[in-house]
Amino acid sequence: MVSTATKIGNFSFTNCLMNAAGVYCMTREELAEIEASTAGSFVTKTGTLEARPGNPEPRYVDVPLGSINSMGLPNNGFQYYLDYVTELQENPESKPHFLSLVGLSPEETHLILKKVQESDYKGLVELNLSCPNVPGKPQIAYDFETTETILTEVFTYFTKPLGIKLPPYFDIVHFDQAAAIFNQFPLTFVNCVNSIGNGLLIDDETVLIKPKNGFGGIGGDYIKPTALANVHAFYQRLKPEIQIIGTGGVKNGRDAFEHILCGASMVQIGTALQQEGPSIFDRVTEELKEIMAEKGYQTIEDFRGKLNYIH
Ligand code: DHB
Repeated sequence: MVSTATKIGNFSFTNCLMNAAGVYCMTREELAEIEASTAGSFVTKTGTLEARPGNPEPRYVDVPLGSINSMGLPNNGFQYYLDYVTELQENPESKPHFLSLVGLSPEETHLILKKVQESDYKGLVELNLSCPNVPGKPQIAYDFETTETILTEVFTYFTKPLGIKLPPYFDIVHFDQAAAIFNQFPLTFVNCVNSIGNGLLIDDETVLIKPKNGFGGIGGDYIKPTALANVHAFYQRLKPEIQIIGTGGVKNGRDAFEHILCGASMVQIGTALQQEGPSIFDRVTEELKEIMAEKGYQTIEDFRGKLNYIH
């Protein structure tokens, strides 16, 4: 029997596949669809202190090789998502969940995380250090000093299981510097990667999306090599207690297999879920199981991180 079950921290999941934050996770209705699908979990849309309408439309567009978005953090406010995941955890049949959060300033981030700390929520929290789309707000995780300061402060009061969503890094020195910071903290996971920020897609002579004169986060096929490199770079550098969630360019079983081979314990689907809908989890799970069966692997631990090099 082939199984795609996995664990993150002390939480068990019957399937290692789930949505990526931002896709199918804005409302209770969307989240309930992921809960009812074969996905192993869901992550909520990144919640801020107050609800936000986000950037003007069009702000998300699919193209043949992926997607571009500059949503601008539209969300119903972190309390909406905190209430929903706290409600679901009362049901013993419920999957464990990920609550995605970030403030528009470090002060706001601490205010939110303190509320979550004081709440009855017992699940996982994902602090989003990689939103590329709010005009005037740089991505936190590209500023290593700010990142270290925020994490230092967070772990003075936050004791629930916490991970961080990272942007892609593109230089070996940055992998080294980022990992040296993350290894100082009791993080449960890092999630690699968010979209490749501030790309530009054009149709004829015009940009595809309205915010930021067309600049937006790139997802889909375009980003799989970058995502795999980030998953593997952090798998090689982080202490074993910090697990890796792999996100970026997953649309079939082979893509999920590659993320796990690079070290991912859980694999998230963003653009392809947006394009295909929640039934994608049935297809990708079956494709992944078929690859595992062909290779004689019964669990994802049989091949996780076991990427071969050429000597
Ligand atoms: C948005 C996009 C992101 O990539 C992210 O991490 C958070 C928010 C957005 O534009 O809404």
